[in-house]
Amino acid sequence: MHLNVAVQMDPIERINIRGDSTFALLLEAQARAYPLSYYTPDRLAMRDGKVSAAVRPLTVRDKAGDHFTLGEPRHVPLDSFDVVLFRQDPPFDLAYITSTHMLERIQPKTLVVNDPGHVRNAPEKVFVTEFSDLMPPTLITRDLEAIKAFRAEHGDIVMKPLYGRGGEAVFRLEREDLNFGSLYDLFAATFREQWVVQKFLPEVRDGDKRIILVDGEFAGAVNRVPAADDLRSNMVRGGVPKATDLTKREREICARLGPALRERGLLFVGIDVIGDYLTEINVTSPTGIRSVKALGGADIAALLWDKIEEKRAGAPA
Ligand SMILES: Nc1ncnc2c1ncn2[C@@H]1O[C@H](COP(=O)(O)OP(=O)(O)O)[C@@H](O)[C@H]1O
Ligand SMILES: [Mg+2]
Repeated sequence: MHLNVAVQMDPIERINIRGDSTFALLLEAQARAYPLSYYTPDRLAMRDGKVSAAVRPLTVRDKAGDHFTLGEPRHVPLDSFDVVLFRQDPPFDLAYITSTHMLERIQPKTLVVNDPGHVRNAPEKVFVTEFSDLMPPTLITRDLEAIKAFRAEHGDIVMKPLYGRGGEAVFRLEREDLNFGSLYDLFAATFREQWVVQKFLPEVRDGDKRIILVDGEFAGAVNRVPAADDLRSNMVRGGVPKATDLTKREREICARLGPALRERGLLFVGIDVIGDYLTEINVTSPTGIRSVKALGGADIAALLWDKIEEKRAGAPA
């Protein structure tokens, strides 16, 4: 199959190719001989309702320090592509939201992965609350009284920003911790949004598992074990990736989420599980596929492109 592919991503010169899932997807696309075009979100435009971008031809190489070559920019209608990989990283701010609105205009002629409207409606720590029976007790608010009541009930809690990522500003507060008041004030001053208050899960010592689903089906997983001196399992915070299998409970979680993800065109999703509990559903720009493969797991980039080919095979001309 031939697919004309564009990728909307953050500056490619800044990525760390060893861990970058977007890069893995680009390598696989190139191996399938799909021509690749690249643009950053600031090169997107909508004129009289028609969306275009200044795209540059891209070739990639799995070689740190020399991982890409870009050609000259050309301004083209974005619906001239068969597939747009929407891989812009958060912040999930109004610029991000505006990107999703523009990308919605090129559907269904172009397949956008993941579906931009549904990405917009599914911020990772909010979407997951549709499955709150699978989650630890979780409160989203900025109301002091509500947090105090939750803390009185659960004792050992975690406070973290609603739109944080990479373990940013994740705090554990034990029952007796006298820093609660100050931390509340700091969150209230720092974040305009409500934030997350969650029961602390001691199982985090054994890791926070990233499970990847392609079109709602389990594709691979990697466990991330936090450093001994940190709560956070994120690899950027020193979490160590380990090969892993799914437990019975995790298979149940995947089975529950699968139909909801498929229905929404969320083809490439990473969910996070601590102990028996689901904590996040990452749809914006999930990562982890290079670790899965490096640890002997599936080639998720290949699985995703197989799926995209299947979808395009039945697509409008
Ligand atoms: N309820 C919790 N109990 C124990 N550890 C937690 C909890 N919530 C978060 N953590 C730790 O903090 C890390 C980052 O939190 P997470 O909710 O995944 O936000 P982020 O989007 O920043 O990755 C997790 O990987 C885990 O190590
Ligand atoms: Mg996380």
